[in-house]
Amino acid sequence: MEKPHTSDINGTTNNNKKTNQVVPPSQSITSANSSKDTKDKVGKAQGIQSTKGHSLEDLFENNLKDIYSGEKQLVAALPKVAEAAYSEDLQDAVREHLEQTRRHVERLEKIFSRLGIEKNEEEKCLAMEGLIKECTRTIEEFDESPVRDSALIINAQKIEHYEIAAYGSLCELADVLGLTGPLNLLERTLDEEETTDRNLTDIAKDINDEAFDQGERERGKTASQY
Ligand SMILES: [Fe+2]
Repeated sequence: MEKPHTSDINGTTNNNKKTNQVVPPSQSITSANSSKDTKDKVGKAQGIQSTKGHSLEDLFENNLKDIYSGEKQLVAALPKVAEAAYSEDLQDAVREHLEQTRRHVERLEKIFSRLGIEKNEEEKCLAMEGLIKECTRTIEEFDESPVRDSALIINAQKIEHYEIAAYGSLCELADVLGLTGPLNLLERTLDEEETTDRNLTDIAKDINDEAFDQGERERGKTASQY
């Protein structure tokens, strides 16, 4: 049997999707039942994932908002991470990713506007908040050194892996919902997150070697005192 045609936000016809009818995420939310206000209040206390309904469209919208909050938190946090980095390579990588992160925010805003989704600046991605707190703790606990950079790279890669999981899932949802325009934008961001993660792995190799050598020199100094 021929699959029914669906249309994405750009009006592109798509007949390979599993859904019979694509309901724009915002539409599905506005038609939510009268307990919505109560759910929203509960949701604000528990994080974005629990704020709305349970359709695939709701899941897509909630996860978009979640990563939007995450990206905005990163834009605020990354300048401090770049400043705290000991090696120029890591400083440059973090600054470059800050520029990319600003573009990631813009792409998400483009998706919100195309799908008619209202941004809610109050909703906060609690996972990203926690990951950024770990970064802040590294900066507070370690003196500026190659070891601090090794620790910052671990923090940064945990953030990248969270973003890769978030964008990977959003791409799958956009694909199944037949949202071709958002899918293209999300795939571009996913690609940049994966590249950043690989760059951090490369930088870590030199920095971890340097941190190890520094540790050896310090251990040698301590031993020669006895
Ligand atoms: Fe990002």
